[in-house]
Amino acid sequence: MPTRILVVGGGGREHALAWKLAGEPGVNEVIVAPGSEAIELEPRVRCVRDVDPLDPASVVKAARVAAVELVVVGPEAPLAAGLADALRAAGIPVFGPSKAAAMLETSKAFCHEVAAAAGVATARARAFTGGEAAAAEAFIRELSAGGALAVLKADGLAAGKGVIVTDSEEQALDLVPSFLRHRPGDRPALVIEERLAGPEASLIAICDGRRPIALPAARDHKRLCDGDTGPNTGGMGAFSPLPDLDPAAVERIIETVHRPILMEMARRGTPFHGFLYAGLVLTADGPRLLECNARLGDPEAQVILPLLGGALGPWLLAAARGGLPADAPALLPALPGAAVGIVLAARGYPGEPRRGDPIEGLGAARAMGALVFHAGTVGRPGGGFGTNGGRVLAVVGRGPDHGSAREAAERAADAIDWPGMQRRRDIGGPRQVPVPAGVPAGVPAGAAG
Ligand code: AMP
Ligand code: GLY
Repeated sequence: MPTRILVVGGGGREHALAWKLAGEPGVNEVIVAPGSEAIELEPRVRCVRDVDPLDPASVVKAARVAAVELVVVGPEAPLAAGLADALRAAGIPVFGPSKAAAMLETSKAFCHEVAAAAGVATARARAFTGGEAAAAEAFIRELSAGGALAVLKADGLAAGKGVIVTDSEEQALDLVPSFLRHRPGDRPALVIEERLAGPEASLIAICDGRRPIALPAARDHKRLCDGDTGPNTGGMGAFSPLPDLDPAAVERIIETVHRPILMEMARRGTPFHGFLYAGLVLTADGPRLLECNARLGDPEAQVILPLLGGALGPWLLAAARGGLPADAPALLPALPGAAVGIVLAARGYPGEPRRGDPIEGLGAARAMGALVFHAGTVGRPGGGFGTNGGRVLAVVGRGPDHGSAREAAERAADAIDWPGMQRRRDIGGPRQVPVPAGVPAGVPAGAAG
């Protein structure tokens, strides 16, 4: 049981992590580096604002000064910068993958290579270097001849925004030069995948290098606008659990996706310790892996963590110290009911967001019992908060089923406003919460949770 934990990051996912860990039995203090003014308001949470998560030395120093027993790394960029390696080298238990293992997220081409070696079902895909425009075009035509559309992905970190899901062969062909232009040479620049159809699922597991324990599954909503239209974003809302992925199905995915990937990574000498996030499409032919992330999802974490039935810290500490117990459960126990999280985004997102708009209604939303996690806010001189990023808040409602959780989230989100605020109004709605097989027709989807 860790009593002092350092969480690295300062967005909505880290707000949810700090809130969850600080509320667990035996935890005296959660330190968040750099955190934010809003995160600091949580009980038993303190922020050290002068730490740069991308500078491993400054995080190691903060961990030593605060005498923490565990460091949990939230975002991907510090992992890609080797933060977990630096902490391990300093003898500080850290839950988060090494730079080499985080390549599962930082390179889509590497992720496909590992998935293929591990025998994990993915979308058909090929990687192309900056000089391979003709081969990329030929692959798009080949997909098209087989009746498939293409998805173009920039290789490398792009915060979910380097992906274009195309609607025609012509559109895909037109886009190839824009993906290759800035990446000359022989490194992978572009991954082209067959476009899959089906609902998406985010299934995240706590991993100790060998063993995975599943968190409740969640569904993100990547497109900006209702009905899954508009540009891709980092995620406009999420809900959990998934009525179309029961515990047995979750366990099958853990055994056919997460465990083989862990084995392949260990075989390569780069074992994966941390949250292994599988982004999946549930196709008619079964689940297919779209991407791996080396961290919790954002906004998935904001709905998953409030649903956990017990403490998270002891599992993370065990994994960080070298091993989850052999009798660990396959699935972390969850509370009954559901959680729905609605992201409130600034004007301009996913392009350049407008900053500094005063946010109204935060107190009212919390008074309704909603959880309000801050992703991009800044304290205002006279009190209150202003917008300070693309995704600004995630408002999370909970209830005995998806319908009531959605109502709670909607009501609280309705209380919050600022000029130009953007949000979706269909998160967790009937289109995304299917009625599981066996439930008689006529029962509203929201009642099926
Ligand atoms: P990624 O960053 O790879 O998860 O892609 C971002 C989003 O693009 C995903 O969450 C999907 O909504 C969509 N997407 C990516 N790859 C595919 C694919 N092969 N087929 C259909 N949609 C996809
Ligand atoms: N919400 C998707 C992600 O965190 O990558």
